Amino acid sequence: MGNNLLKGKKGIIFGALDEKSIAWKTALKCYEEGAQIVLSNAPVALRMGEINKLSEICGKAPVIPADVTSMDDLKNLFEKSMEHFGGKIDFVLHSIGMGVNVRKGKHYTEMNYEWNQKTLDISSMSLHKVLRTAWDMDALSDWASVVALTYIAAQRVFPDYNEMADAKSLLESVTRMFGYYYGEKKKVRVNTVSQSPTRTTAGSGVKGFDGFINYAEAMSPLGNASAEDCANFCVMMFSDYTRMVTMQNLFHDGGFSFTGVTQKVIEKMES
Ligand SMILES: NC(=O)c1ccc[n+]([C@@H]2O[C@H](COP(=O)([O-])OP(=O)(O)OC[C@H]3O[C@@H](n4cnc5c(N)ncnc54)[C@H](O)[C@@H]3O)[C@@H](O)[C@H]2O)c1
Repeated sequence: MGNNLLKGKKGIIFGALDEKSIAWKTALKCYEEGAQIVLSNAPVALRMGEINKLSEICGKAPVIPADVTSMDDLKNLFEKSMEHFGGKIDFVLHSIGMGVNVRKGKHYTEMNYEWNQKTLDISSMSLHKVLRTAWDMDALSDWASVVALTYIAAQRVFPDYNEMADAKSLLESVTRMFGYYYGEKKKVRVNTVSQSPTRTTAGSGVKGFDGFINYAEAMSPLGNASAEDCANFCVMMFSDYTRMVTMQNLFHDGGFSFTGVTQKVIEKMES
């Protein structure tokens, strides 16, 4: 049972691949909180057909394909969404990431730069493209809220996160820069949520993920935040209770980001 935190709001959710996806859980929560949504993902991801299940649960939410690197696809998505809603969009979730060098097992020091361009286009500049499309079409309502998902490797080194560390730094920079301009123009807020390691398709693609997630769990006073916790946080960010928050990178990680060491880790080191 929701609390109608998003009653009357209309949003686009990018990146629900399967039930584990952070975007999937967020779509469910937004719907539960009274929002109307449109779901989008890359055409190749939609072919798996999983998203239709989500659409059914979320009141037959339209599923509109968009490769987030294509300005034509994005224009079509915003046009169709506004047509469907009969008006502007109040929130957008950017829950998209892809590391081509990571996927192909290329070490950071041996990066293939063409693949890296694709990584940055999909994982970082796509946020610029989404915001630019909305800006050009005047598709976002005043005080709309845009959230993109990121990871603390943007600030600190996690070696196996590879080129995605650079991608997340760029994503956070686009958040601040576009957040500034969109804030001035329309009071639109743009933030990133820096989430704990989470067992999803994208997450598990990181080499040594088990060690990674267990380490984070031991280093977080509250433990790792789940995808569902993240969904709740996104709902709050889309709600009117966070109207004055913009251009921020918000850690949603059970305290990991500000912990130097924990008793659990000390005991492990002593044994
Ligand atoms: N899982 C984690 O440990 C973790 C931690 C922090 C941040 N994040 C971030 O959360 C976000 C969501 O990832 P997730 O963990 O839910 O995994 P996921 O694999 O379920 O989601 C990633 C999504 O990106 C989509 N995508 C890839 N290329 C695309 C393109 N060209 N156009 C449109 N969509 C495209 C995929 O189809 C997929 O739906 C990502 O930005 C990820 O980096 C994940």
